[in-house]
Amino acid sequence: MVNSLELVHELHLSLPKEKWWGENNVCQMNGFWFLPKFVPNTVRVLNEFNPLPNDVILASFPKTGTTWLKSLLFSIINRSSKELLVKHNPHELVPTLEVQVFGKTESSPIITDDLDSRRLYSTHSPYQLLGKTLDSFNCRVVYITRNPKDTLVSMWHFTNKWKDAEDAPWPLDEAIEKFCSGIFPGGPYYDHVMGFKKASLEKPENIFFITYEELMIDAKTHVKRFAEFLGCPFDKDEEVEEIVKSCSFEILSSHEVNKSGDFPSWFPVPYNSFFRQGVVGDHKNYLEAKTIERIDALTRDMFHGAGFMYGI
Ligand code: A3P
Repeated sequence: MVNSLELVHELHLSLPKEKWWGENNVCQMNGFWFLPKFVPNTVRVLNEFNPLPNDVILASFPKTGTTWLKSLLFSIINRSSKELLVKHNPHELVPTLEVQVFGKTESSPIITDDLDSRRLYSTHSPYQLLGKTLDSFNCRVVYITRNPKDTLVSMWHFTNKWKDAEDAPWPLDEAIEKFCSGIFPGGPYYDHVMGFKKASLEKPENIFFITYEELMIDAKTHVKRFAEFLGCPFDKDEEVEEIVKSCSFEILSSHEVNKSGDFPSWFPVPYNSFFRQGVVGDHKNYLEAKTIERIDALTRDMFHGAGFMYGI
């Protein structure tokens, strides 16, 4: 009899692979690239995850504001226990389906089936793969995206915080090539974003699409809109202000748990690597004019060409 570890091994062998960075490969499934260790977990999410109608799923491409949105949605949904963010990293309060929840091939998912609680999970899986599951159970999805140049620069910094990068950091020119070719964990970035963008236009009552830049300009208005979308509006403006403040980069990054150089059990980066600059436009400090032109041309083609006037 074939056990599940053997199946995982066979799955890895059968998928196309590309070099991503250093000794690290990515594997391609249905047109998207994944870190090999998350392939079996993602397959489990697709096969086994049954959302409940009351579930909230935060979806994103990596490095687009997931940590920030996790803290905001957690606080909106769990108003009375929002101070948990002082002692816990947002990624531990809002687990990621393919990382922590379905993280161990051999064991049961770490998931609650308590119908009274409102479950909040996150995912980096693209709509093209997970959409069928999300649509069939009618749960609420909030998708965040970020302009491609800041996303790329943020990922480059983040990857260089990996344990593996200590001896051989990832050169920026390689990161640019990989991003533009789409060979990036979760990538191609443009397909990931457009999958959720189109779905949000078709099903606005189920999918809320927001950009990091919009949230940065007016977090208060958007926090109110999230709460209305999730069916739990605020009575008082002060509550909204309090949440925005406690989830701000300044406050969140000042908590000991988020300043820690310790590594979580679920990913090979220190807790503090989820908080770097938290600004819009930092790519200008790293990318040359010709790279900016190259990425803008891609953005015009992939986003503007599809009617989504964003990202430049
Ligand atoms: P930078 O690397 O540009 O600073 P993700 O959470 O999807 O991994 O994205 C990480 C990016 O979001 C990092 O961007 C990080 O600094 C930024 N970030 C984390 N918490 C934030 C917050 N509360 N407000 C704004 N940006 C935040």
